[in-house]
Amino acid sequence: MKYFYKLFFVALLLFIFSYQSFASEVNVYTSRHYDSDESIYEDFTGLTGIKVNIISGKGKALMERLRLEGKNSPADLFITSDAGNLWKIQKDGMFREILSEKIVKTVPDSARGPNNEWVGIAKRSRVIFYNPERVKDIEIMNITYEDLADPKWKGRLVVRSSGNIYNQSLVASLISNIGVERTEKWAKGIVKNFARKPQGNDRSQILAVANGEADIAIANTYYIGLMLSGEKGIDQKKAAEKVSLIFPGQTDDGTHINISGVGILKNAPNPSNAEKFIEYLLTDKVQKHIVDNTYEYPIKSHIMPSKIIAKFGTNFKTDETYASDFGKYNSEAVRLMDRAGWR
Ligand SMILES: [Fe+2]
Repeated sequence: MKYFYKLFFVALLLFIFSYQSFASEVNVYTSRHYDSDESIYEDFTGLTGIKVNIISGKGKALMERLRLEGKNSPADLFITSDAGNLWKIQKDGMFREILSEKIVKTVPDSARGPNNEWVGIAKRSRVIFYNPERVKDIEIMNITYEDLADPKWKGRLVVRSSGNIYNQSLVASLISNIGVERTEKWAKGIVKNFARKPQGNDRSQILAVANGEADIAIANTYYIGLMLSGEKGIDQKKAAEKVSLIFPGQTDDGTHINISGVGILKNAPNPSNAEKFIEYLLTDKVQKHIVDNTYEYPIKSHIMPSKIIAKFGTNFKTDETYASDFGKYNSEAVRLMDRAGWR
């Protein structure tokens, strides 16, 4: 009898141990964590039984961590902004191909890695903000990115530094569209037009336009969404109300579009759970949640952006350059900006 109890106890321990090691989970490294996302993770767990473990941090820090952990990383998924960042992980062979048809069919070609190593979960557009009291409609209407190098903007333009991946990707897209030579000439013109030395993030460029330090700024649309929402305080909301925006390139290649995206790590311990999680991020419900919280654009065209962003217009022409080109031409773009003196 004593022997039977012992055996029973060992069997019970074995059961608990194996249950724990097979417990369904997915480990997500993300530079895009919002408090409101908790409800999304809980909902996913309720639907699938898969527990979501989140490690959040800055994109660069997480990329560093993934590299340091190497094969031993528990990460299944890496979520970050900018195709340029996703490209860096892809280039080092750290992503695996996403096989789910559901995912590949939902995300357009232009928002996926060359071999489906990553896919976009939201889109962002890099536009021109201007002070309508200092810039006449006629000056700004039908403006293209190339027009920003015109000497008429001398001392009137602000944009963040060339170390910033959003600018690197914009320049890479220009290289893809008009070639290195024309892009370099353009970058030199941009530098001559600076109202100040590049500093701060995109929000700080919009603030510079609002307070009269500059007349125009290059920045992503979701920053004005964030400011107008009141999340950044009443002063920033008031500042944002003084500023207008225009989608550049409407008579040309269209407005520059980048993505926030996700890839599955090569050594992911739970790759099929990871695919399920991406499929979930692409459901209409979660797409709506994403755009209402981040003020980005949805990856699915039938979902409406947040009201705050939609009021600037939803039917603008978008540049169809593949997001993977932003990675492909990244080092060329960095060198080019350096030659142009864009610091
Ligand atoms: Fe951003």
